Amino acid sequence: MPSSLPIQNNVALRAFNTFGIDATAARYIRIESTDTLRAVAADYQLAAMPRLVLGGGSNIVLSGDFNGLVLHMCTSGIQVSGELDEAVLVTAAAGENWHQFVLWTLAHDLPGLENLSLIPGSVGASPIQNIGAYGVEMKDRFHSLTLFDMSDGQTRVLHRADCDFSYRDSVFKHALRDRAVIVDVTFALPKRWQPSIAYTELSNELRARGITEPTPMQVADAVIAIRQRKLPDPARIGNAGSFFKNPLVAASIRDALLSAHPDMVSYRQADGSYKLAAGWLIEQCGWKGRVQGAAGVYEKQALVLVNLGGATGAEVMQLAAAIRADVAKRFGVELEPEPILV
Ligand code: EPU
Repeated sequence: MPSSLPIQNNVALRAFNTFGIDATAARYIRIESTDTLRAVAADYQLAAMPRLVLGGGSNIVLSGDFNGLVLHMCTSGIQVSGELDEAVLVTAAAGENWHQFVLWTLAHDLPGLENLSLIPGSVGASPIQNIGAYGVEMKDRFHSLTLFDMSDGQTRVLHRADCDFSYRDSVFKHALRDRAVIVDVTFALPKRWQPSIAYTELSNELRARGITEPTPMQVADAVIAIRQRKLPDPARIGNAGSFFKNPLVAASIRDALLSAHPDMVSYRQADGSYKLAAGWLIEQCGWKGRVQGAAGVYEKQALVLVNLGGATGAEVMQLAAAIRADVAKRFGVELEPEPILV
């Protein structure tokens, strides 16, 4: 049956991934409503193709051309959708830009997301890796989401307990990876707001600005300033944010490493394990600012790999493999990539 859907063939994805990797999608469709998703799921041939759901394209690495169907989430809409005793509910469509959404909440006197300012990407991608920064994770403000299940064509609402959120991880990277398309996300923003400013770099920034009791917008401004200082703007230098997760290790491993490297950075977790700063491990191996082909390690943040112009996905992956091997050899720690590798 020929499809009447507005499918495009051989579409360049370079403008749709923040790494700026020049790859092509065999088939591509803009999704502007759930009806379009329903039509894709009902089309036997399209539904059987390998699928890539694309939001802002800020957390993927394209290893080469994609021989399947790209569903590009381009839906829009933000609204106050309800109220709880302690929180206001705000729902945003998956295709909304994350930072613009954060600014919308602040402009409407609905604080709670300010620590997550300036994170690239879309609202629909935010639960997939449970985005986090400066002491707050998306899950801390998450209420529920609507997903479209490509496997049965049904729409379902998931609450926090259904999503298995953890550090840069969720059910959407695992059991639901090939089925779920997130349609919208609802956040519970606290009516009685308290600033979350314990993260050292953030509290230092506020102190340097002479601010002791910040407003939500002042927290957002401080976060934006830190990010602009340390992280490359994807509009100018291709990147996907942190390329590796900060590894979690047992206390015994951290203690052994610390006695060999007394200035190693680590953070104790609630369960007694430790998170190591992957940026520190990578820098110690001499990778900060290094270049390999057209890919490199950002000079101001070793956890961020960058496209210096025309890097292929394969070049980025080779660089990542070389870094992983060095960190494993020197520290015995395995780094895990943070973006989704396609
Ligand atoms: N560090 C170094 N060298 C470096 C980079 C970092 O020694 O080149 C050290 C720093 O001195 C600091 C520690 O590592 O003591 C942590 O650095 P930073 O505060 O920059 O944070 P991060 O652990 O490198 C994480 C997130 C970021 C998030 C920041 C702030 C991950 C994988 N990354 O980075 O998230 O913005 O904390 O909360 O958890 C992202 O996920 O894409 C991302 C940018």
